[in-house]
Amino acid sequence: MGAFVIKGGKPLSGTVSVSSSKNAILPIISACLLTTEECVLKQIPGLDDVSGMCELVSNLGANVEVNGRARKISISTPQLTGHTADYELVSKLRASFLVLGSLLARKGVAKVALPGGCPIGSRPVDLHLKGFEAMGAEITTGHGYVEARCPDGKLKGANIYLDFPSVGATENLLIGAVLAEGRTIIENAASEPEIVDLASMLTKMGARISGAGTDTIVIEGVEKVHGVEHTIMPDRIEAGTIMTAAALTGGDVTLTNVVPEHLKPVTAKLRESGVEVIEGVSEICVKSSGRPTAVDIKTHPFPGFPTDMQAQFSAYLCFAEGTSMIVETIFENRFMHVNELKRMGAQIRLDGRTAIIEGSEKLQGAQVRATDLRAGAALVIAGLAANGVTEVLDIHHIDRGYEFIENKFQRLGADIRRVQ
Ligand code: UD1
Repeated sequence: MGAFVIKGGKPLSGTVSVSSSKNAILPIISACLLTTEECVLKQIPGLDDVSGMCELVSNLGANVEVNGRARKISISTPQLTGHTADYELVSKLRASFLVLGSLLARKGVAKVALPGGCPIGSRPVDLHLKGFEAMGAEITTGHGYVEARCPDGKLKGANIYLDFPSVGATENLLIGAVLAEGRTIIENAASEPEIVDLASMLTKMGARISGAGTDTIVIEGVEKVHGVEHTIMPDRIEAGTIMTAAALTGGDVTLTNVVPEHLKPVTAKLRESGVEVIEGVSEICVKSSGRPTAVDIKTHPFPGFPTDMQAQFSAYLCFAEGTSMIVETIFENRFMHVNELKRMGAQIRLDGRTAIIEGSEKLQGAQVRATDLRAGAALVIAGLAANGVTEVLDIHHIDRGYEFIENKFQRLGADIRRVQ
C-alpha cells in the first residue's frame, strides 16, 4: 500500500491543467453498450475506477482498446455476450450499477449485484429500481443481486418522479430511456454537469433528449443509436481540490481546462473566505495571502456546494480565523476525515451531520489514513499547509479519483512524494 509523504508550508504557484472527470466518464462508458458501433472517448483520465469500468463492460462483451498515451478509449460492442455484473466489481466500484440501464435498454435483461454499503453512507438504489419498474421492468432482488427483465424485451417510456435528485439514478434511467418505447420524463432529476455531459454524448449518438441540466429531462425513445467520438468534460472536483490547496498555502495558481461555471459554489466560498479568484473562459486563477476567514458551508445537489468538496473544505477551514460550520446533507457518514484531521491538531466538534470547526493558525504534520477518496484529498491539502511532515496512508483511495495528484502538486512547487 502506498503513502504520500508531504513536507508542508510551501505556497503553490504556477499553472496546472485539470484532468477529465471521473464521475462523467463512468456512466459514459456504460452508455457505450447501447450501440453495436464504435464509441471513441477522448481525454480519458488514467484512473483505477476507469480501468474497473472498462473491465466490467469488457466482461459483458465489449471490445475495449485503451490507448493511454493518446488518452483515448475505443469501445465497440457488436454483441452483448453477458448480462451479469458480479459483486466482485460492483462492490469495488459503485458506478458499475449504471450498467443496469444499458443492459435493460439493449438486451431487456440484466443481473447486477447490489452495491451494498460504503464508508460514507448506506447508499441505497431504490430510486433506480422504482424508475425501471415504472418503465415496465420486472425486478426481483435476492441473494445479493438485482434481476431485471422487460417482459416484451424493451423498456417503455414512463413518467418518473425521483424522491431525491440522485445523480446515479438520473444517469441510469436516462441511459435506459434512450432506447425505450415512447417518451420518458424524469422529474426532480439531478442537474449535475456530468449529466449534461452524458446527455450530450447520447444526443451525438442519435438519442433525443431535452432538459438535461434542469430538473426535468425528457427522452423520446429511438430504435437505435450509433457510434460517437466524445471528449470527456474537465473534472470540477479535481479543480476544486487544487483551488482549495492553492488558497490554503497562500499560493498563486492558474488552472486550465476548467469550466468556471461548474465551480461557482467553490469559487463563491473561497471568495467569501478572502481569496481572490479570477475566472477566464476555460481557466481560473486563485491567489491568496494570509489566513482564510471562517465561512459556513451546507452541501446540496448542484448547483449547491458539492458534497465531494466538503472534506477538502473541512481541511481548509481548520486553518481559518474564526469558527466555521459545515452541514453535510447528502451522505449520512461523510466526516471520516475529521478524526484524522484532529490527529494533526484540528479543533473540530461533530454533532450528527454538522461539524463545527475552530480555526487554528497551524496544524502539525502527522501520520494519517485516507478512509475514502475525498477524505484522502482533504488530508493531502492539510499536509501541504501543515507544519512539518505529514504521511497520508492508504492512498489507493486517492488514486481512484485523482490522476497522479502528487505530480500536479509537485509541478506547483509542493514537497510531496509517493512511497510504497
Ligand atoms: C454521485 C457521485 C458522487 C457524489 C454523489 C453526490 C459518481 C460516480 N458519483 O454518486 O461522487 O458524491 O453523486 O453528488 O458520479 N439515494 C437513495 N436512493 C437511491 C439513490 C441515491 O436514497 O436510489 C441517496 C444516497 O444514499 C445519497 C443521495 O441519495 O444519500 C445522493 O446519492 P446519489 O446522488 O445517487 O449519488 P451517487 O450517484 O451514488
